[in-house]
Amino acid sequence: MNLKVSKCKNFSGVIEVPGDKSISHRAVIISSLAQGESRIKNFLNAGDCISTLNCLEEIGIKIERLEETEIVVRGVGFYGFQKPAKTLDVGNSGTTIRMLPAILAAQNFTSVITGDESIKRRPMDRIIEPLKLMGADIQGTGKENLAPLTIKGEKLKGINYTTPVPSAQVKSAILLAGLLAEGQTTVNEQYLSRDHTEKMLVSIGAEIKIDKTSTMVIGKSPFNGQEILVPGDISSAAFFIVAGLIIPDSEITIKNVGINPTRIGFLEVLKQMGAQIKQENWQLKNGEPRADLIIKSSRLNGITIEGEIIPRLIDEIPILAVAAALANGTTIIKDAKELRVKETDRIKAIYNELKKMGAEIEEKEDGFIVEGPAKLKGAVCESYNDHRIAMAMSIAGLAAEGETIINNTVCINISFPNFEEILNLCIRD
Ligand code: S3P
Repeated sequence: MNLKVSKCKNFSGVIEVPGDKSISHRAVIISSLAQGESRIKNFLNAGDCISTLNCLEEIGIKIERLEETEIVVRGVGFYGFQKPAKTLDVGNSGTTIRMLPAILAAQNFTSVITGDESIKRRPMDRIIEPLKLMGADIQGTGKENLAPLTIKGEKLKGINYTTPVPSAQVKSAILLAGLLAEGQTTVNEQYLSRDHTEKMLVSIGAEIKIDKTSTMVIGKSPFNGQEILVPGDISSAAFFIVAGLIIPDSEITIKNVGINPTRIGFLEVLKQMGAQIKQENWQLKNGEPRADLIIKSSRLNGITIEGEIIPRLIDEIPILAVAAALANGTTIIKDAKELRVKETDRIKAIYNELKKMGAEIEEKEDGFIVEGPAKLKGAVCESYNDHRIAMAMSIAGLAAEGETIINNTVCINISFPNFEEILNLCIRD
């Protein structure tokens, strides 16, 4: 499958993007640990979250699909999971393979969890190491300790741990294991990564204390199921935000987008670059703020992006690079080495594909330097089977002369199945 886009003269509309991927994963995982039923609304019914649902069903969780985006999860408490009949398969989902082992590690059975080729290349030591300190018995494969992971259930005990790289997946794995462990578990971060797990645990009534970049949970304190309303995914909205900014005379309204402060580094940077973005209809539900975003075409200027803000915009860097290519002056992105171990090496992918389209971009070990504004030209681009690369290049294509073809776009289903449909709704001219 491929996606073709041509230069667009006006990109406007009132749209909604699907539910947040990170929050959807957490909603089903935390609901499965609760006592009784949870109803989840605006759940992201897309590849990665479906992988989480399938794995949970495989370990005995009953999930009722009421509508496409509404599900009911019957929680079994902390230790009520069942031995899976086969190897658990997370597909392409890093969040699933980093979070589920935390629960599996405390059950009274042995399980094996793996995923696709991309998953088998991604680092797992970052969860294996702290979980082992908690008493877990987890074995990776090969010298590098990669997936498949074999997990033998053990009794866990609390730890006090400082993560070597800010990672919400690692933080979440330790906190989830902490719920099933004896005593207290504390996770400290240098910079705050997305805090959806903490927010959801507070809202569901778990024993948790948050102090800036440290979070503590008390193990073995049960909680009940609840109703969870997932906001729209800012990481999916990001593609439409940049399209609205870079295409002249455009105005896009995106309704009900999650604007958790740990996720909106992207909006902060764009505003500093000169973007006109307004928020309306602010609401707070399940501890997660959400609002409508109104975006108008803007002249953007280059900027340096580094340090504390990086974990708060890490998934938006591919599309930020597209904005940077069209902005006036120099944009420097550094401290973002983590991009090399995402679904693909995103630094390499962005560099190769934007260069092909005529951008002036230099690759660095931990980011890149972009010199704008470029006159982008249509090209045949590769997705590297990475949803965010595929979507970022589609938006670049809207601003490029001639036609752009993005190959292998099935991966877009990982986070945004109706991306092309919404894109076509907004292409007005
Ligand atoms: C995610 C955390 C981030 C992000 C990923 C989703 C999550 O990774 O890149 O797409 O849901 O916790 P880190 O674990 O590196 O923060």
